[in-house]
Amino acid sequence: MPTLNTVAGAKHARIYSVGSYRPRRAVTNAEVCELIDSSDEWIRERSGITERRWAGEGESVVYMAAEAAKVAIERAGISASDVGLIMLATVSHPYAFPSAAVEVGDLIGARGAPAFDLSAACAGFCFGVGMAADLIRGGSAKFIVVVGVERLTDYVDKHDRGTAFIFADGAGAVVIGPSETAGIGPTVWGGDGSQKDAITVSASMTDYRDGIVSEYPTTVMAGQQVFRWAVGEMPKAINQALEIAGITAADLDVFIPHQANNRITDALVRALDLPEKVKVARDIITTGNTSAASIPLAMDAMLQSGEAKSGDTALLVGFGSGLVHAAQVVTLP
Ligand code: COA
Repeated sequence: MPTLNTVAGAKHARIYSVGSYRPRRAVTNAEVCELIDSSDEWIRERSGITERRWAGEGESVVYMAAEAAKVAIERAGISASDVGLIMLATVSHPYAFPSAAVEVGDLIGARGAPAFDLSAACAGFCFGVGMAADLIRGGSAKFIVVVGVERLTDYVDKHDRGTAFIFADGAGAVVIGPSETAGIGPTVWGGDGSQKDAITVSASMTDYRDGIVSEYPTTVMAGQQVFRWAVGEMPKAINQALEIAGITAADLDVFIPHQANNRITDALVRALDLPEKVKVARDIITTGNTSAASIPLAMDAMLQSGEAKSGDTALLVGFGSGLVHAAQVVTLP
């Protein structure tokens, strides 16, 4: 049997840049309440959300992802031809194939780069960051674009008071590449398919086609189950991510959890006993829950506003439908 060659890549990886795309149309709680029996006060109190962005004409998953990726590539100081892989996390691209990622590659001028979509719902971005770091260290690519993008409003019933006020649209992207020092800590990740019904789609497209269900499939969520799981399980994953990165909460500058619900963020901050100095992402207030896009959107907003700065140590955690989760410590670009 011949001995096969293997390749090795960079010693470490880091995030070079982040870019994002927010849909043009901002939608207030008052507008959401035109279709559901709710109130601005209830939505603010239970979720923290005051408004969100809903994608309109032309703002497809592919378009929003490409816009975010272009910004990230420009800020990274590389050219599109340097991109060695595009990994796109989404659950709302309306075509089963080809992937949104391969279309994004064409739109941004990264022709020839391998590209694929990954389906890990609200944990998708952190799945992508972890895999990108490992692929760069393994020598499979030098520069990788990781995108989190959603157009969840295509899969939400705007008359459902359990979900209509939470979910929204947008895109965020990072460029990850080689580094002399470790800029991405090990990823702690997991999945629990026994809770697949906690956030899911009401029916399959084939059931809809075959008339087994008459309603177009939309998101159904057991809100309290998700809330309890996130608050109970995520602190364990986060503490493991800190431990294997070799740091403690006192070393953190920034905490960017998936923007699921501001009350979940509050509960995580309490459970982790984060020091006061740690800046906590609250992008959900004006952006809603954008699933795979929420962490890079929040990261970009914090860096652009000056709330966080380049070189800060940040803890990321994504969690959602599956149920799946992923957490890692990173150095902000
Ligand atoms: N507006 C007004 N009242 C509402 C409402 C709405 N949109 N939705 C539910 N209610 C009412 C219910 O009818 C119920 O009334 P009752 O006490 O008179 O029976 C009451 O509010 C409580 O309902 P419940 O479903 O238990 O609400 P909740 O406190 O669990 O809040 C969520 C609902 C969705 C905000 C909350 O469960 C949640 O945030 N879960 C996590 C969801 C999440 O983060 N998902 C994304 C993960 S990726």
